[in-house]
Amino acid sequence: MCGIVAYIGKEQAFPIILKGLKRLEYRGYDSAGIAVLNNESGLNNYKRQGKVSELEDFSAEQDTSGTIGIGHTRWATHGLPNNVNAHPHISTDGEMALIHNGIIENYDSLKEELVSRGYVFKSETDTEVLIHLIDDIKTNEKVKTAEAVRIALNSVIGAYAIVVLSKDNPNQLIAARKSSPLVVGIGKNGDFFLASDATPIIEYTNEVVYMEDEEIAIVDRNEGLRIFSIQNQEKTPYIQHLELQLEAIEKGGYEHFMLKEIHEQPRSIMDCFRGRLNVEDGWVGLGGIKDYETKLAKAKRIIMVACGTSWHAALVGEYLFEDLTRIPVEVEYASEFRYRNPIINENDIVIAISQSGETADTMAALNLAKSKGATILGICNVVGSSISRITDAGSYTHAGPEIGVASTKAFTAQVTVLTLMALTIARKKGSINETDFRRIITEMELIPDKVAKILEKSKKIEEIAAIYKDATNALYLGRGNSFPVALEGALKLKEISYIHAEGYPAAEMKHGPIALIDEEMPVFVIATKGTSYEKVVSNIQEVKARKGKVIAIITEGDAQVKEMADHYIEIPDTHEYLTPLLTTIPFQLISYYVAVMRGANVDQPRNLAKSVTVE
Ligand code: G6P
Repeated sequence: MCGIVAYIGKEQAFPIILKGLKRLEYRGYDSAGIAVLNNESGLNNYKRQGKVSELEDFSAEQDTSGTIGIGHTRWATHGLPNNVNAHPHISTDGEMALIHNGIIENYDSLKEELVSRGYVFKSETDTEVLIHLIDDIKTNEKVKTAEAVRIALNSVIGAYAIVVLSKDNPNQLIAARKSSPLVVGIGKNGDFFLASDATPIIEYTNEVVYMEDEEIAIVDRNEGLRIFSIQNQEKTPYIQHLELQLEAIEKGGYEHFMLKEIHEQPRSIMDCFRGRLNVEDGWVGLGGIKDYETKLAKAKRIIMVACGTSWHAALVGEYLFEDLTRIPVEVEYASEFRYRNPIINENDIVIAISQSGETADTMAALNLAKSKGATILGICNVVGSSISRITDAGSYTHAGPEIGVASTKAFTAQVTVLTLMALTIARKKGSINETDFRRIITEMELIPDKVAKILEKSKKIEEIAAIYKDATNALYLGRGNSFPVALEGALKLKEISYIHAEGYPAAEMKHGPIALIDEEMPVFVIATKGTSYEKVVSNIQEVKARKGKVIAIITEGDAQVKEMADHYIEIPDTHEYLTPLLTTIPFQLISYYVAVMRGANVDQPRNLAKSVTVE
C-alpha cells in the first residue's frame, strides 16, 4: 500500500531509489516518482503514471544526479493514478518535497484552512496538505524543516509514513511514522536508507531501526541518525541486525515471484516447523507462545482476526483448534470485527493472522481487543512488523519474504503454525491421545516431500489450466477443512486471472450456485479420502448431472472419482487435518498458469496491493 524509499549518502541516490522502488513495487504500482536534490540544478522531481519501469524510461534522459533523494510507488486512495497525483509532492516555492504512505483523515479541514491562507492545491491527494502544512508552519513560525514537520504531525489525524527533503538542508532527510511502516537502514559508509520495509535496504546493510508510531527520524550526513517523539523527546535508536538474505527477495531463475514462492513451499513449510517438532521424542512446541500455553489451554473462547488469504488460514485453524482442543473458535474479518462493537473481555484470546503484519484492519482489530483487556497473539510472516510488535506474544511463520501479491507460501506456513499451535494446546489440555498426536506429527514431517511430489505434476496442471483459461466463471467446492481451501482456490483465480470464481461448501451448492452450472462451467472439487468423501462424491454427481466440468483433487489411487471427473489431480494421502497443506497446491498452480496464459500480470495484479495499510 504505497512504497517509500529514500537515500542520503555518498552514492548517486536516483539509481538506489529506483532499484528500491522496484523491490517495493508489490506495495503499489499505479504511479511512481523520485525527487533528487542536486547542488547545481536544485530539486528535480520526476513522476510517472504506471509502473516503476515507466518512470525509469521517462527519467533516462534527465538530470537525475544527486546524493540525496526520496521515491515513492503509489497505490491510489485519494485521487486517480496520474502524473499529478503521483508522489513526491512539492511545496509551492519548489523548496521541499514529500512522500507519504497512509491516509490523512482530517485532510479536508486542513485543506480548507490552507486554501483560506492562499495555498493552491494541484493534486487530488490527501498527501498534498502535508507539504503545504509543513511549509506554512515553517514560514509563519520561522522554524527549521524538522521542527515544522513535528508541529505539523501534531495536528494530523490518520496514518502516515513520510519522508521530507528540503533544499535548505541538503544534508538531511526527515522521516516520521504512525500506523504505516518505516525502516531506517544504517549504511556502512555513513549513508542512510529509509524504506517501507527492509527489502530495498538489505543489499546495502543489515543494520536497521524499525521506527515506532509517532516517531520522527532525522538522518544527517554530519550528525547521523537521531530519533524523537512527536512530543520532541529524544529516543535512543534500537538497532537490529537482520538475517534476511538478498537471494530471498530475488526471482532466482523463475519467471515470476509467485511461481518461485509456490515452489519454495516444501522448504518454507519445513522452515516453519523446524525446531518446533520432534517426531522421535513426540514433542511439539512454539517458543513464542510458551508463556501463554496454560492460558490458551484454559481459554473459554479464541477469536481469530485476519483479512484475505490469512482469513482463509484462520478458517482452517478453526477446524483444527475446535477438533483438537475443544475450545470454541470464532473467525472474524478484521474489518468487520473492529466496527461492530464486539463482545470481548479479559478472558478472551485474540489471535491475529497476517503475512505482512501491517494490515491496517487487522492492526485496528487487535488494538480494539487489547483495549478491552483481551490477550492478543500474532501469527506473522514479516519479522519486526507492526503486528508482531504490538502483540503480547506470537509465532512467526518463517516462510521468508513473499513478494508475489497473491499469497501462496505464507498461507501454507500459517496453516502449519496453526496446526502446531492447536497440537501444543491439545497436549497441554490433554484433549488429544498419544496415538493421534504421534500420527499427526509423523505425517506433518512428511508434508514437505508430499508438496514436492505435487509440484512435480505441474505439467499436467498446466494442461488442465490451458483447457479452462477462457472460462468466465468457476466454482470451487470442498467440505470440512477443505471448504477454506476452496475459498482460497477461488480467491487465487480471481486475484490474478480476473475470472469470477466462488468457493462454496460442497453441500451448499444446491442452494444457489447449482443454478450456474452448465457445460461451460469448471467446477474444482476437493474430493480427497476422509470423513466427507462419500458426500463429496454425491456432490460431484450433482454437478455432472448438470453437465458441469469437474476437476477433482483426489487421493492417490482413488478409482471412483477418477472415473467420474473430467480431470483429476492426485495428491499423496495424509492425515485428514493436514490435507489443506496439500490440496491448496494444485489450486495455486492452476491460477498461476491460467493467469500467465491470459497474459495477466501475475505478480502485480490490477488494483491489488500486497500489504493493505489503509482501511
Ligand atoms: C492483501 C493481499 C492478500 C492478503 C491480505 C491480508 O489483500 O493482497 O494476499 O492475504 O492483504 O494481508 P496480510 O498481510 O494481513 O496477511
